Order: sequence, then structure tokens, then C-alpha cells
Amino acid sequence: MPHLKFFLFTLLGFSGQAVSQLYSNSTIPENRSVKIQWLDQKPAYNPGTTFGVPWPRGRYQANDTIFAVSSEGNPSVASESWITGYWSDSSVKWTAHAIAAGVTEEDYTVTAMSKNSTRSTLGNTTLTAHNSPDIIEIDTGKIAVAFPKTGNVLVKQIKTSSGQVVGQDGKLILRSQSSVLDDEDKQDQSAPEYFNFESKINNVTVSKDNTARALVTVRGDQRQVQDGNSSVSAHKDWLPFVVRFYLYSNSESIRIVHSLIYDGVPKSDFVRGIGLRFDVPLEDEFYDRHIRIAGVDGGVLNEAVQGITGLRRDPGQALSSDGFTLKKRTKAGQSWINITGSTQAGGLAYLGGATKGGLTVGLRNFWKQYPSQLDISNAATDVGSITVWLYSPAAQPLDIRPYHDGLGETDYADQLDVLEITYEDWEGGYDSPYGIAKTSELFLFGFDSTPESDSLATLTDYINSPSVLIADRDHIAHSEALGTYWQRPKNSSASAQSLEDHLDFLTDFYQGQVSQRKWYGFWDHGDVMHTYDVDRHEWRYDVGGYAWDNSELSPNLFFWNQFLRTGQADLYRFAEAHTRHTGETDVYHLGPWKGLGTRHGINHWSDSSKQIRISQPQYRKVFYYLIGGDERTGDLLTEILDAEKAFLVVDPRRKVRAANITYVADPKALLIDVGLDWSGQAAAWLIEWERRGPRWQEAKSKLLETMKGIAKLKNVFVTGEALYNLYNGTISPPSQDPDNKGVVAVSHLTAVFGLVEVIAELTTHFGDALPADFEQAWLDYCYYFGAKQAEQKARDGEAFGKLNLYQGHSRLTAYAANKLHNATLAARAWNEFHNTDGFKADAPWRTERIEGSKVLSPVDEAAWVSTNDVGQYGLAAIKNLALIGEYLP
Ligand SMILES: *[C@@H]1O[C@H](CO)[C@@H](O)[C@H](O)[C@H]1NC(C)=O
Ligand SMILES: *[C@@H]1O[C@H](CO)[C@@H](O)[C@H](O)[C@H]1NC(C)=O
Ligand SMILES: *[C@@H]1O[C@H](CO)[C@@H](O)[C@H](O)[C@H]1NC(C)=O
Ligand SMILES: *[C@@H]1O[C@H](CO)[C@@H](O)[C@H](O)[C@H]1NC(C)=O
Ligand SMILES: *[C@@H]1O[C@H](CO)[C@@H](O)[C@H](O)[C@H]1NC(C)=O
Ligand SMILES: *[C@@H]1O[C@H](CO)[C@@H](O)[C@H](O)[C@H]1NC(C)=O
Ligand SMILES: *[C@@H]1O[C@H](CO)[C@@H](O)[C@H](O)[C@H]1NC(C)=O
Ligand SMILES: *[C@@H]1O[C@H](CO)[C@@H](O)[C@H](O)[C@H]1NC(C)=O
Ligand SMILES: *[C@@H]1O[C@H](CO)[C@@H](O)[C@H](O)[C@H]1NC(C)=O
Repeated sequence: MPHLKFFLFTLLGFSGQAVSQLYSNSTIPENRSVKIQWLDQKPAYNPGTTFGVPWPRGRYQANDTIFAVSSEGNPSVASESWITGYWSDSSVKWTAHAIAAGVTEEDYTVTAMSKNSTRSTLGNTTLTAHNSPDIIEIDTGKIAVAFPKTGNVLVKQIKTSSGQVVGQDGKLILRSQSSVLDDEDKQDQSAPEYFNFESKINNVTVSKDNTARALVTVRGDQRQVQDGNSSVSAHKDWLPFVVRFYLYSNSESIRIVHSLIYDGVPKSDFVRGIGLRFDVPLEDEFYDRHIRIAGVDGGVLNEAVQGITGLRRDPGQALSSDGFTLKKRTKAGQSWINITGSTQAGGLAYLGGATKGGLTVGLRNFWKQYPSQLDISNAATDVGSITVWLYSPAAQPLDIRPYHDGLGETDYADQLDVLEITYEDWEGGYDSPYGIAKTSELFLFGFDSTPESDSLATLTDYINSPSVLIADRDHIAHSEALGTYWQRPKNSSASAQSLEDHLDFLTDFYQGQVSQRKWYGFWDHGDVMHTYDVDRHEWRYDVGGYAWDNSELSPNLFFWNQFLRTGQADLYRFAEAHTRHTGETDVYHLGPWKGLGTRHGINHWSDSSKQIRISQPQYRKVFYYLIGGDERTGDLLTEILDAEKAFLVVDPRRKVRAANITYVADPKALLIDVGLDWSGQAAAWLIEWERRGPRWQEAKSKLLETMKGIAKLKNVFVTGEALYNLYNGTISPPSQDPDNKGVVAVSHLTAVFGLVEVIAELTTHFGDALPADFEQAWLDYCYYFGAKQAEQKARDGEAFGKLNLYQGHSRLTAYAANKLHNATLAARAWNEFHNTDGFKADAPWRTERIEGSKVLSPVDEAAWVSTNDVGQYGLAAIKNLALIGEYLP
């Protein structure tokens, strides 16, 4: 009977004093010890995990503090801690902690201790790492894994502690073709050419300390397979990848984060399959060779190899998120027979022997990111293989050509007209996917013997909802590391409770819409739609600028802040998927627009407006730090440091600029929006400074210089656009106002793509050192945006005119009210929240079931909801409750 090591829990005896009692005698909460809890209930399986903890400003110095993890049963949990962020005064702001596999506790405690402490702090781990010129070898104690530094093989070997090799020659495989049949009725179309590629490694690195966790990062691209067939044309190396392997002490599992950037030519490069393949040595007799494939809801297909060699789970005929089929065949060249089919498959497969063990591979969100596929082949030979396809070769090739040819828009004027009518901002050449990316998470498990089906069902749950630890949310709030504007008021009035109900309604509604509207698929999973079509009972997936949302008006920030307030596990997973999608696919990672994102549209990359408001790093910050500094997200944050260079090749607002304002791509005088563009760049600078990244001094200096420059503009944020020197961060007045007499150019968009939240964090980051003139500049903008026209005129010489998004801007007024302790202003803020635009208090706040012949399948509809309102309503409700909750009528 196979015995699964990971279900054996050893409880260590412990008779010590609770750690928190050793310290702290302060009237302010000392928070030397922080409780860490599981996001969901305690997991059935935990092969090691990483999480982040924030610390209050000024409390701990890196050179004088050690951080250690304990639990009620164990004073020194096998773990590793490191610093991920610093405050402006160099005190510790964020730490990350990796916990080894093994004992899973109800909860944990992280304690900041003086380096002088004599207490033994670190549990023993079993991890070792060897970095030699040709290869990196990591031994977790359960599996030993070898990563070559050159060639095409990412993982040379996975060996269990008993010496069995359960996986080898793990490599990426890719298939593409040169064309697709565009019209099946035509006979004269030339047949496509087919290309096969494999990973080509350019660079392999390993993390430094490797106590509880080792991270191996492999970078490379895909190189054409040279198989001596000269009739195939040559294809360049392409589709650069970064694959990260996370290995934890005492764990039989490897977590893999696979990121791929598209750098092909859409009309002649059609990707047919993206896979990761492992060979599995097989020595057992055929009847003792086992194949397992996860089905639905804990179901597992069990087959012995006798009589088959190939087994495949593929997307099924419907090629949607809903169906899959299982097929098998005796060998290549023979036909497939169907085994069965069903709905949403778990995405896990095992191949191995009863006595020699084998390999399990899994793909997270398998069906949600369809079309995906699992293949098991050559199972009746000495070396079988498992392939997990992130994009299935059985599906239609990945077609990312433009979805229209301009529709007769022959010139720029036509394009502007269309922008007015369908809200679509199309321009030939700008609907390009060149540089977008996709990140997938995979898991490997090496076992000494075939796991029982129940264990595989547990693993299937794990790969789809990996265990997550979250620091106590009150502690996160007290630390002020993520600002001070999202805390829930302690004593909730009935009217505050009704706002809470509305926020819950909105987050539940969007999660429900994802499954009902099938917002799934390789490029789409994680996004939501922008605008609803009441007549069709359908979101406007096919109408110009109304389709995919691409972070318009910051729903990202709403979802994360609401998670911080409620701790809901479902919301965390939803926001995580949203963060992955919006950071990867809606943003360019190479090419001329690197660092910019694409405005909302029918394809994630189709709109011609390329802006930093979409790539805004603030959208990914909560996830990044809470999960302990997710390295892929870290790369995305770094990229935005250079977004400013893209302003030299594309004018982000060329379609909406006033005719008398000329955009000059001068690196010393770039016309930028001091809210919309600056807030994205400022967030990137702040994060780089916090992280002490390689460019933190440049980042800090540009941040301070621009804050100074904005404060010096006569009308500060009301100026709208100003000139920015990207070499040294100097801001000067726009060219039409060289003497800084004051320009009034207020936009409803300035503050709604992260500006409010970035400044809230700058405020706590600097503490008392926040430049006073900048604080005053922001306070002014917050006060005047919704003020009476006469007041605006008195201050800036001109009224701002009729603007938009007053409900969302009520949180700016709330900030001013809180800062100035002004009850009249607080009342004004709540009035703006309730009685201007956006969602009305007497909106239905419920869905209506639409069924029968009106729709393809039954749906829950809230025709009054638009995603634009969601992000801004949500953020305004949250911030107003936190800042002026006591004034809520
Ligand atoms: C401990 O706390 C008590 C009560 O708050 C206070 O009187 C005392 O001075 C504190 N002692 C130290 C060493 O801080
Ligand atoms: C620790 O760092 C702080 C702040 O950087 C510095 O003032 C202090 O002198 C350092 N202490 C030691 C012992 O190095
Ligand atoms: C740690 O020990 C050093 C040297 O003995 C001493 O200077 C320092 O104040 C101690 N730090 C704390 C926090 O006790
Ligand atoms: C770690 O290992 C050392 C040496 O084997 C032993 O003395 C120590 O007690 C162990 N620590 C823990 C926390 O298990
Ligand atoms: C590999 O990447 C690391 C980290 O980015 C870099 O320091 C190193 O120079 C690279 N090595 C090669 C051979 O490119
Ligand atoms: C297997 O199922 C597919 C649909 O998934 C169908 O197209 C095919 O004809 C079936 N094959 C056989 C042999 O029944
Ligand atoms: C730009 O043109 C608009 C409309 O033509 C006009 O209202 C505005 O005053 C002009 N701005 C400047 C700075 O000349
Ligand atoms: C930045 O460069 C500009 C133009 O070269 C110069 O006028 C300005 O003084 C510089 N600012 C700083 C802070 O160095
Ligand atoms: C409070 O704000 C109101 C409304 O803007 C303003 O009229 C009043 O002067 C402010 N009160 C104080 C004490 O600043």
C-alpha cells in the first residue's frame, strides 16, 4: 500500500511561553508579534508557502532585527525570512517569510526580535543548494532536482530521496504554423507551414540563502528544432520566457511560474501549442504502471498501462471552458478511442509505477484558461512522458490578428468619429499584441510510489487553490504600509452597513458574472467586461471600447482594498486572477510601448490608446507584498520604471488633446499629465525605493523632484499637463504658460487611475518628512475639484466647468474634510457620494434572473451596473467610511 509522506504530521512538544509575552509593555500596540492565518481553512496539504508582513514606520532597523516564525506548538518553525521593503527612514516596512513543508499549524506568529536575543529562532531545514558553473542542484530532502545552465532542458532530473528518478529532461515545447485557412470553401489557399520549437536557455540563476526555499529562475527563448528536415523553412528564435521553479525544504513539490512574451508577427506566426514536457522512466511491469487523470469534483480516472500507451485529456469538441474529453490509443499512428468526457477538469495527471514511483503534473486554473490539454504518451516503453499544454495543439491555432481591418476608417478624422460613436479608439498599427505576456502556474510532485486517488484529489484542490497565509489584517492596517484609508469603522451604523452590503453585492456580482458569462480562456481569464447591453442581456463584448475592461477606473484597487477589509478568500482568488491578467496581457513587456498598457476594447491589445494608467503598478502592489514579493509581479513593477521612455514614441492622449497643445517628444520636456501619467510613474518609483531595487536612488530622486515640481506649478494639479525631464525628474509649466501664471485644465480622469491611493501611500511612507508644499498641493486639489464654481474661480482664476465622476471624487473631498477637521466639508463629501453621478442609493442593489428564450442560457443581470462606476463607487465608499464615517447621514 503506497504511503503518502505528506499526510504524516509530527507534532513537536513545546512548553515555552507564548512569544508575544516576552516583549512589549507599550501603550501603543507594539505588534512585535504578528498573527498569520490561513486564507481559507487550514489546508489538507501544504508543500511550503511564502507570505509577507508589513511593519510600522520607524520601529525596526534591518541591522538590529531578526524575524522569526513560530506557532503555538513550535517555537521555531522551519522557515526563512527576508526584507522586501523599507520606509523612507530606512526602517523595515515589509518582510517575506517562507515556511518549509511538513507540519501544518492552525496559524503562525512572526516576531521581530533584537539581534541580541539569545533565543534560538530558526527551525532546522533540510534544503541544500549547489551552484556550479554548469548546473544548479537543489535537494529539498524529499526530491533532488538538477537545473542545467545551458541547452534545451530546464530540468535534467528529479530524484526522490529513495533514489528513484521520477522525471527527467523537462523542457518547453512550442508549435506554430505560418497561416490559417481563412475561408474553408476556397481550394486555392496555400497550406500552412508547420514549425516545432524547444526551450533554449539563456540564463539560469538561483536565490541566495536557500534555507527554507530555493528559487531557480530560467530565462530563454524558443528555438526551432533541428531535425534534419530541410524542407522546413528557418524560423527565428522567439517568444522569450521566464520560468521560475520554487522548491521548499522537506517538500516533494515544485511550484512553477511560467511567463511567455509574444514577439511574433500575428499574420504569419500562429502559435499552435505551448507545452511543458517531462520524461518519466518506467521500469514496472505494464500492469503495475499507472496513469491517473483528475476529473471533476475530486474524481480521478484510474488506468493501468496494459494495452495503451497514450492518454490525452483535450479540450473536447466544444473547445470551451465547459467540456473535456479523454481519449486513448495504443500507439502513434493508430486511432484514438474516446474514454469519456465531462465538464470542468481538475488539470492534474500522474504517470508512474507501483514500485518505482512517478511524476504528477498539474496546471492551475486548467479549464478556466482553456484550451489546455494533458498528454501521457509512450507509457508502454522504458521512458514515458507527460506533457501539460498551456495552449492545446488540438485547438484552433492562436489567432491574434486584428479583429477588424479599419472598417473603412480611411483617415484620422474617421477614427475620431468612430471614437465618438462606438467609443472605440482604433488606429492601424496600434492594434498589436507585440509584447503582451501570459503567466501560468504549474506544479510538479515526485512520489516514490503511485499515490492513492484520494491524495490526487487533494493535490488537485491544492493546485487550483494553493495555500495562502495572510498577516493579521488589523496589523496590516496599523502598520500603515498600505495607506490608512481602507479601515472599516469600528461601530457600524445602519447606513454604513447598507454601504457594506452594496460593496458585498458588487464583489459577489462580478464573481458570479465570471462563471455565468464564461469570462475564461487563455488571454481572457481574470478580466471583466466594461459595459452592459440591456437589449441583448449581454455584456458588450463586441462593441468598440465597451468590451474588456483593462483596469478602467481601477476596479483592481477596489477589489484589493475590499479584500483587506473583509479577508474573503473568494475575493482574494478573484483579485489575484485579475492582477495576473491585467498585469500581463493588458500591458506591453517589450517593444516600443514597453511599460504602457492598452485602453479597454474588444481585444485586450486592440485599442490605440497606450497609457501608463493601465500598467499602473499600484494595481499590483497589495498582491505583490502580501504574497511575500512574488518575483514575476516584481519584474512587472520594475518594467514600469521605463514606461516614461515610451512617451517618446507615442503620445498617450493624441486623440483627445486640445488642438492648440503640441506634443513634443523631447526627453527633457515631455508633456505628461500630472495626475494620470505621474501617478503611475510615481507608484513605480515608490516601489523601487521601498524595495531598494537596483535603481532606487534614481527612483527616489525622480519622485522627490517631481513632487517638488508639481507643488511649484501655480495651479498645482489643476494645471493638468506639465513638462517633465526624464533625465532628472524636473517638472516645468506647460509650453503655453512658460511664466507659470497658471493653467486651468482639470480632467475627471486625473485622480481615478491610482493617484489618490498612491498619494495616500506616499503620505505614510514619508511620515513627517512629507514635503509640506506637496501635501498642500494635494489638499487644494481635493478641496476644489467638487467645490462651488465661485470658489474655484476665486482660487485659480477660472471655474473648472462641468466635470464627471463626482461620486468617485467624493473621497478627495473626504480627505480634505478629515485633514481640515471640517464637518461642513464632510457633509459635502457625502452629498457628492449620494447625489451626483455614479450609483444611486436607491438603485436595485440586486440581480434579476433572465431565462427562457431571451438568452442562450439563464443569467443574473444587473442592468444598472457599469464597471466604470464599480471601481470608483467602491473606492469612494471605502475611503469615505474610513475618513468621515461618523458624518455619514
Ligand atoms: C510598562 O507599562 C506600565 C503601564 O503602562 C508603565 O507604567 C511602565 O512604565 C512600563 N514599563 C516600561 C519598562 O516601559
Ligand atoms: C543601523 O542602521 C541605522 C539606520 O540605517 C543606523 O543609524 C545605525 O547606526 C545602524 N546600527 C548599527 C549597529 O550598525
Ligand atoms: C545589542 O547589543 C549591542 C552590543 O552589546 C548594544 O550596543 C545594543 O544596544 C543592543 N541592542 C539592543 C536592542 O538591545
Ligand atoms: C537543529 O539541529 C541541531 C543540530 O542537530 C539541534 O541541536 C537543534 O536542537 C535543532 N533545532 C531545532 C529547532 O530542532
Ligand atoms: C543572468 O542574469 C543575471 C541576473 O539578471 C545577471 O546578473 C547575469 O549577468 C546574467 N548572466 C548572463 C550570462 O547573461
Ligand atoms: C470521440 O469524441 C469526439 C468528440 O469529443 C468525436 O468527435 C469523435 O467522433 C469521437 N470518436 C469516436 C471514435 O467515437
Ligand atoms: C486652446 O483652444 C481652446 C479652444 O480652441 C481655447 O478655449 C483655449 O483657451 C486655448 N488654450 C490656450 C492655452 O490657448
Ligand atoms: C535637470 O535638467 C535640466 C535641463 O538639463 C536643468 O535645467 C535642471 O536644472 C536639472 N534639474 C536638476 C534637479 O538637476
Ligand atoms: C469648512 O468648509 C466649508 C465648505 O467648504 C467652508 O465654507 C468653511 O469655511 C470651512 N470651515 C473652516 C473652519 O475652515
